[in-house]
Amino acid sequence: MNPTVITLPEKEHPSKAFGWAARDPCGVLSPFKFSRRATGEKDVAFKVLYCGICHSDLHMVKNEWGFSLYPLVPGHEIVGEVTEVGNKVRKFKVGDRVGVGCVVGSCRSCNSCKDDLENYCPKSILTYGAKYHDGSITYGGYSDTMVADEQFIIRIPENLPLDAAAPLLCAGITVYSPLRYYELDQPGLHIGVVGLGHVAVKFAKAMGVKVTVISTSPTKRKEALENLGADSFLVSRDNDQLQGVIGTLDGIIDTVSAEHPLLPLIGLLKSNGKLILVGAPEKQLELPIFPLLQGRKVVGGSMTGGMKETQEMVDFAAKHNVKPNIEVIAMEYVNTAMERLLKADVKYRFVIDIGNTLKATS
Ligand SMILES: NC(=O)c1ccc[n+]([C@@H]2O[C@H](COP(=O)([O-])OP(=O)(O)OC[C@H]3O[C@@H](n4cnc5c(N)ncnc54)[C@H](OP(=O)(O)O)[C@@H]3O)[C@@H](O)[C@H]2O)c1
Ligand SMILES: [Zn+2]
Ligand SMILES: [Zn+2]
Repeated sequence: MNPTVITLPEKEHPSKAFGWAARDPCGVLSPFKFSRRATGEKDVAFKVLYCGICHSDLHMVKNEWGFSLYPLVPGHEIVGEVTEVGNKVRKFKVGDRVGVGCVVGSCRSCNSCKDDLENYCPKSILTYGAKYHDGSITYGGYSDTMVADEQFIIRIPENLPLDAAAPLLCAGITVYSPLRYYELDQPGLHIGVVGLGHVAVKFAKAMGVKVTVISTSPTKRKEALENLGADSFLVSRDNDQLQGVIGTLDGIIDTVSAEHPLLPLIGLLKSNGKLILVGAPEKQLELPIFPLLQGRKVVGGSMTGGMKETQEMVDFAAKHNVKPNIEVIAMEYVNTAMERLLKADVKYRFVIDIGNTLKATS
């Protein structure tokens, strides 16, 4: 009988890497040594400078979706500076400002891939916690280095600060893509944003769309109106407020990360209105049918975006000065940040200062 050979994550590949990983569904992150593949001919390697914290990272470290692979190094809002490129890389050079979002691989031949929708490829490979083409586990951006095929690398324009650009790579594209695809980007339309996907508010305003923020947190009112540029604000748990605006919205982008009722939201839509869900709660949501029939309303979903559209979104953000509001934190603060994220206590995105605060232990 052959003994099973277990390769340690730090010996698997030639390039040493260091990050923070969750070891089990408790989700607590701690320092972790691993390795990255050598820079292949189509690969771009970069030093990670900042990485945003997405609620998906929290779902994943706790295995709430049931497919997490441990040790799990989260992070799919990764930005940094190119350190090496393979000899067939055409679009990037050493020193460029770049980023990686939610996906690092796809089949490149299915209909979704041909349509520049790598995110919907049945064989798409997530940036962390998934198996890469070579069978090794992918590790995300809570780490010092990153390597990815140039197809999955995004250029960050000079006028976008790198720290604020990080959340665009997931939070940004997740709301930009459905605004475009479901045609909620037309000037003069009125949409609701639920769960304060604050980047959605900023993109929609830049597109000329009227925005009502629908939040559980009355304390976010002032900032939503004055700082994010929303036109109005509703407290989602206040029935009187909701009653006053029934049938007034052309669409809703729902970014809520927890179980919540859809019925009141469907009620806010005009006839032909669209409720677009991008949040991914652990529990299934109940979908009431009759309120959809009465008014020919649509419920849709959307998941991140393809590479072409992600680059378009980043360029749009740079042109229209759409910058996520961030709280920059040190690596050691990450577990506290996760606890605060669970309580919706962040305005509005944590970004880890990897470049200055991730210290490799010997
Ligand atoms: N579809 C995709 O491609 C995609 C991409 C990224 C993330 N996601 C998913 O989208 C969700 C949001 O991610 P995020 O990073 O934006 O998370 P987040 O910062 O935690 O935002 C979620 C928001 O939901 C609201 N909320 C929380 N609990 C609620 C409850 N019980 N009832 C009603 N509202 C509640 C809060 O807003 P208020 O305080 O304003 O109420 C909170 O700020 C997560 O499930 C994540 O996995 C999906
Ligand atoms: Zn995300
Ligand atoms: Zn494909």
